[in-house]
Amino acid sequence: MKLWGGRFIDKESKLMEHFNSSLSFDKRLYSQDIKGSLVHVEMLLKCNILKEDEFVKITEGLISILEDIEKGKLHIKGDYEDIHSFIEMNLISRIGKVGKKLHTARSRNDQVAVDFKLYVKEKAEFVIRELKNLQSTIEKLGEENNIIMPGYTHLQRAQVVTFKYHIMAYYYMLERDIKRIKNSIDIMNESPLGCCALAGTTYNTDRDYTAIKLGFKSPVNNFMDGVSDRDFVIELISDFSIIMMHLSRLSEELILWSSKEFDFIEISEEFSTGSSIMPQKKNPDAAELIRGKTGRVYGDLMAILTTMKGIPLAYNKDMQEDKENYFDALDTVLACIKVMNGMLSTLRVKEENTIKAVKKGFLNATEAADYLVCKGMAFRDAHKVIGEIVLYGEENNKAIEELSLEELRRFSDLFGEDVYIFIDYENTLNRGIKKDIKK
Ligand code: ARG
Repeated sequence: MKLWGGRFIDKESKLMEHFNSSLSFDKRLYSQDIKGSLVHVEMLLKCNILKEDEFVKITEGLISILEDIEKGKLHIKGDYEDIHSFIEMNLISRIGKVGKKLHTARSRNDQVAVDFKLYVKEKAEFVIRELKNLQSTIEKLGEENNIIMPGYTHLQRAQVVTFKYHIMAYYYMLERDIKRIKNSIDIMNESPLGCCALAGTTYNTDRDYTAIKLGFKSPVNNFMDGVSDRDFVIELISDFSIIMMHLSRLSEELILWSSKEFDFIEISEEFSTGSSIMPQKKNPDAAELIRGKTGRVYGDLMAILTTMKGIPLAYNKDMQEDKENYFDALDTVLACIKVMNGMLSTLRVKEENTIKAVKKGFLNATEAADYLVCKGMAFRDAHKVIGEIVLYGEENNKAIEELSLEELRRFSDLFGEDVYIFIDYENTLNRGIKKDIKK
C-alpha cells in the first residue's frame, strides 16, 4: 500500500516492495511521527491552510491511532512502505478523505528527518540518565572499598593507589561521555520540519512555530541541509562508541582482576556463567560480552559514515539505512550500561589480596628514591640505589620496609629511622593521590 502511484502504469514488483520497505524497523518512530503530525496540523490551522473542522478531525484521528497502538489494538505491520505511510493511510481509512490533507506543505523527507531527530534526542536523554545511574554505582563501590591496591603501568605494578581511586577514573570518563551527549543534543537541536522535499513550499507556513512546539531551539537555516543532514545520527553513534570503549576497558580490568592470577575481585554469580565441561569454572561472560559488543557499535558507526560519504544533496534513499545502525548501537549501549551497573553493584573486592599484591610489588620504590632525594642525593643516583635494593629484596624475598636499617645502610648511609614512616603505604597515598582527590 502506497502514498504514490499516480504516474505509474506497472505494478511494483513484490521483491522491490519488500526491499524498499522500512516499516519493520522504523515502526519505532510511531509516536514521534504522530507528535510531528499533530504540531504540523496545528500550524496549518494557524496559517489558515486547514479549516478548524478539518484540523479537529485530523487531530482526533491521529490521537486515536496513537492510543490504539499503545493499547496494542493496532499492530504496526502490513505491506506499507514505512511508518509515515502506515499512519497516514490508517488516518485516511479512519476519518475519510479529509485525512488526505495531513500531508499538505510537507514531504516525507522533512517528516522522517524530524521524526528521527525527536527520537534520537529523547533517547540521548535516556542514555544520560543510565550513565548517571552507573556513576552512582561506581561512587558507592569506591566509597565501600577505599583500600590500597597496586596501580599499574604497562600492566606492571607501579605505585600504590586505592581501589576507590582506580574505579573513580571510570566515573570521570562517564562524566565526559555525558558532556559529549549533551553537546550533540545542542548541535542537533534545529527542526527540519517545513523544509519539505528539498526546496520548501509555496504555502505560507510557520517553521518557527513548529520548531518551538516540538522542543527545538529553532528551525534549520537551509532546506537542503535540513532534509539530508544525518550528522546527528553519526555523532550519537560516535558518542556511543566512546562509551563502549570506556565500558570495554573497564570490562577488561574486571576480567583480569577476577582471574586467579590477580584474584582482586569476585564477580557475583548473578553476572557470571559456568562451563559446560569444566565444573570448577566461573566465567566473567557479562564483562566479555560488553567488550565484544564494542566492536559491534564501532561497526554501526563505520556503516553510517560510509553510507553518507558519497550522497549528493538532498535526500536519497540510501539514508534509510541510518536507522538500523542507530537502533542497534542504542540498544547495545543501553544494555551494556545496565549490565555493567548490575555487575558493579554486586561485586566483591578482596582487600586481603590487593594488599598482598601491593607488598610484593615494591610499590614504594619511587617514594624510597624520593626519600634519598630529600636527604640530598640526586634523583638519578637515588633511582640506581633503590634499584639495587629492590634486586636485593627480590633475592631475599623481602619488601623494602621489611629490610633492617643496617641492610638499607649497606646501599646508602643517608638512610635513617624516619625512612619507614616515609615509605609507609598510607603515607605515600596521603602525599600522592589523596592530596588531589575531589571525589
Ligand atoms: N522510509 C524513508 C526513510 O527512512 C522515509 C523517507 C522517504 N522519502 C522518500 N522520498 N522516498 O528514509
